[in-house]
Amino acid sequence: MPKESSLMDKIVSLCKRRGFIFQGSEIYGGVGSTYDYGPLGVELKMNIKNAWWTSMTHRSDIVGLDAAILMHPKVWEASGHVDGFTDPMIDCKQCKSRFREDDLSQKNIESGQCPKCGTKDSLTEARQFNLMFKTHIGPVEDSSSIAYLRPETAQGIYVNFKNVLDTSRQKVPFGIAQIGKAFRNEITPGNFIFRTREFEQMEMQYFVHPEDDEKYFEIWKEERLKWYDELGINKAKLRLHEHSEDELAHYAKKAFDIEYEFPFGWKELEGIHNRTDFDLKRHIKFSGKKLDYFDEKNNERFVPYIIETSAGVDRTTLTCLVDAYEEEEVKGEKRVVLKFNSKIAPIKVGIFPLVNKDGLPEIAEKISKDISKNFAIFYDSKGAIGRRYRRMDEAGTPFGITVDYQTLEDGTVTLRDRDTMAQDRIPAERLSGELTKKFSS
Ligand code: GAP
Repeated sequence: MPKESSLMDKIVSLCKRRGFIFQGSEIYGGVGSTYDYGPLGVELKMNIKNAWWTSMTHRSDIVGLDAAILMHPKVWEASGHVDGFTDPMIDCKQCKSRFREDDLSQKNIESGQCPKCGTKDSLTEARQFNLMFKTHIGPVEDSSSIAYLRPETAQGIYVNFKNVLDTSRQKVPFGIAQIGKAFRNEITPGNFIFRTREFEQMEMQYFVHPEDDEKYFEIWKEERLKWYDELGINKAKLRLHEHSEDELAHYAKKAFDIEYEFPFGWKELEGIHNRTDFDLKRHIKFSGKKLDYFDEKNNERFVPYIIETSAGVDRTTLTCLVDAYEEEEVKGEKRVVLKFNSKIAPIKVGIFPLVNKDGLPEIAEKISKDISKNFAIFYDSKGAIGRRYRRMDEAGTPFGITVDYQTLEDGTVTLRDRDTMAQDRIPAERLSGELTKKFSS
């Protein structure tokens, strides 16, 4: 394992080198901590989202939703984000740097000394800074046309609670799941894709009877930890952190973070919140609409409590990259390998003709055509075979198939395992079955 301090640099550089993640608007020098996902990154992210979506919606009590990013501005008044979604911020009058108050040491705050330029008495008092991005709907830019880019996807679920209830025949307890972009004008984004201004969330809101909130809170805490385990994340690097009174968001009665030990410390990966009936009651008040639930069995009317699980797609992607990264010494050379769980690996199988002649490429191309019906493949015929293996190791590809001269004699190919580097010879016609067996085990 590389030194923790340099691990992030290595991952950022690998992500660029292999086409996982690029700086946004790179040719213009980048902009505001934004990132673009390249060919491998987008597959990795898609596989993570699919794993989440399947775990959430392939069950009878949770349905999906895809709500609009732009919502009525009253939504954000009702949710408390217009008044409460703020970070206290401190400026340096000298070098114009801006800091979150909680990122500064007590010593800096008391002495007013800027941690960046070192000037004494240069820090301002803390001021509240709203994290929502403002825009305007329509051609006229006045106060009546203000809209916000959603800072969380959750509100799209709350305002559709009745629509979903009336159309999906669900009964409390039930959940609504959604994956989508969210935007926050973070004061101090950083650590690559850990904290950015544009990111994706995977949120699920579970509507329960008010007396059952604690029971379902515990259930979802366990379920969510299990999900990361199934994604192949090292259990020893995951922990739960309970929010103290002063950490709780304005909507939460109780909250736990699932934290991961990143190279820059233990940080939040996902939030699990007991949001009580706060959000639905606020929307009842601000919209004037009925958003309660009638339980026919018990002849009881109530506003459900909500247990929320809120994960970040980008943070999960970073977690998968950090967790999978390994350096090994092989025959005196360094091998960099991403040991992704095969479920999330962007490419499942690399296919290589040993040389570009004597009929080997034709056989390899035919194998590619067959295998690609079921698996994401990468065909690579350029360079020494050892180099090609290393490229696939860095991409996290679980298996490699090589067509060589023995293939011409007996129809077998080598199947290389990314993690053990062991190579087995198997008949080409058995490849599909063999791979299916390996990926499902
Ligand atoms: N609906 C509740 C909610 O949004 P949160 O704890 O503010 O709760 C949930 O955010 C998750 O969204 C976080 O655990 C993190 O994974 C992700 N997230 C939040 N802000 C982010 C940012 N600026 N960049 C990347 N991911 C972020």
